[in-house]
Amino acid sequence: MFERLLWLEEAGSTQDLIKGLPPHSVVVAKRQTSGRGRMGRHWHSEVGGLYFSLSLNRGFKDEVSLPLVVAYAVGEYLKKEGLKPVIKWVNDLYLMGKKVCGVLCESSRDRLYVGVGLNLNQREFPEELEAISLSMVSGRTYREVDMLLELLDFLAGALELLKREGFRAFKEEIESMLLYRDQEVVLYTPEPVVGILKGLDKDGSLLLITHEGEKTFTVGDISLRLFVG
Ligand code: BTN
Repeated sequence: MFERLLWLEEAGSTQDLIKGLPPHSVVVAKRQTSGRGRMGRHWHSEVGGLYFSLSLNRGFKDEVSLPLVVAYAVGEYLKKEGLKPVIKWVNDLYLMGKKVCGVLCESSRDRLYVGVGLNLNQREFPEELEAISLSMVSGRTYREVDMLLELLDFLAGALELLKREGFRAFKEEIESMLLYRDQEVVLYTPEPVVGILKGLDKDGSLLLITHEGEKTFTVGDISLRLFVG
């Protein structure tokens, strides 16, 4: 599925560089000076993490589920490494209550651009990021190139399956890995919506039971609804 790989010491953002390359390319950088996440957020991109982007032709079934399926594929790889990640809808992986991986999906008329930031060997993060690396969990040091090549295999497998069968092939498994399932959450869309997180709809949309009944959402950020006092 991936035909060329560009490995850089430094990039502004791999997510920008990938847009100038043919489909089925992969760009990796050891660090990024302008790494970005969803909703224009900054992505902490110091040496030690794995930062890469890939480009694909459009034509996937249930395209809205792409970030979720990519997070799932990275999660399956981490499980193979003996870790127990959970998926925070719609694009994050968490380990021990902290963010270990984020996925950014963008598109043009013909292409999809998927960016993955995986915290690998970092020893610490600014407190406010509430982030963690694989190394902070396992005590091991990971070799970026080995991780990336294996990870690309997992991703290729998941993407082929999504193309062939759509999100239904993943729904049950991803639901079982969902953070906050059956708990009361606030979804910022950006308007806040409160509801019980029931699971996922057939295309990967989020299913909430709100005061007005069952509703599905394709965008937004969820957090646990906390009661103070
Ligand atoms: C998020 O959690 O909001 C998504 C983070 C995505 C970060 C990756 S790192 C590689 C690629 N290049 C970027 O600038 N962003 C993505």
